Amino acid sequence: MNKKITDLAYAKVNLSLDIVSKMDDGYHNMKMVNQTVTLADEVTVECLPGEGINIKSGLSFLPCDERNIAAKAAISFFKYTGIKGYETKISMKKNIPVCAGLGGGSSDGACVLRILDRMFETNLGRKKLEHIGLSIGADVPFCIDGGTSLAEGRGEMLTNLKPLPKCFIVICKPPVNIRTPKLFSQIKCEKIRARPDTNGIIEALGNQDLGGVARRMYNVFEDVLTTGTKYIAEIKNIMYDKATLGTVMTGSGPSVIGIFDNAEGAKAALAQLKQSYKECFLTEPVERQGYL
Ligand code: C5P
Repeated sequence: MNKKITDLAYAKVNLSLDIVSKMDDGYHNMKMVNQTVTLADEVTVECLPGEGINIKSGLSFLPCDERNIAAKAAISFFKYTGIKGYETKISMKKNIPVCAGLGGGSSDGACVLRILDRMFETNLGRKKLEHIGLSIGADVPFCIDGGTSLAEGRGEMLTNLKPLPKCFIVICKPPVNIRTPKLFSQIKCEKIRARPDTNGIIEALGNQDLGGVARRMYNVFEDVLTTGTKYIAEIKNIMYDKATLGTVMTGSGPSVIGIFDNAEGAKAALAQLKQSYKECFLTEPVERQGYL
């Protein structure tokens, strides 16, 4: 057998991110509204008789061994299903910036799980893939099916929400690196001063009120950021200057998103941002894949 499948791994943005409490194992209990967007990596998986995992990403700083989340996904899939005797070659065309708060690694991992489930006709379905995904990373379960979801627990307790109405989402990653575990360690749940109106966002989604969603967007990490704040403020100012409906940092940053109801405003923001920042993208929401 020699099988090869290519699929898209979409980026994820947070319309809101709240941290409810710290769990005994050090992880945090989250409440996030997640949204898949059209920015995507291209992931190809090929399985041949043999053994081992071979990863190519074109990015020299990404590990090519079992530390890579795509490799972890393949290892977890074969362990869960008991399938043996294959060499797995994974190649990724990375379009999603790395360490950007855009869930690129998680989405690659989820994509490998979906591809292997299809390739080996294991029909694991969404719930089992999400279960395997959680052992790889907290955002992997959401990335299995994507769309618009409320994500609670570590990120694995997912509730489907009404899709975000048609809009344009501009993404800009400033040139700073933020370490997710360090940022989590700076959060003291009892000291969080402002929280997103998550219920208000869910209600606005229910009413298909794009402005109501966008103006309620908030990320509690922004309160404890120590690096990149100047860039983030500057990016938001540019978004506002081009009449964004709302702008917020996504995930553990440093990328910032701005929501627009028209292509002209979004394109104008993109053009202005590109004058100062290399990694800027014009995207649109992607609906849930409907993976059963
Ligand atoms: O699961 P993942 O590897 O994506 O998480 C990266 C880090 O983020 C974890 O090691 C942990 O420090 C932190 N984290 C957390 N609570 C979550 C998700 C992630 O504390 N719900």
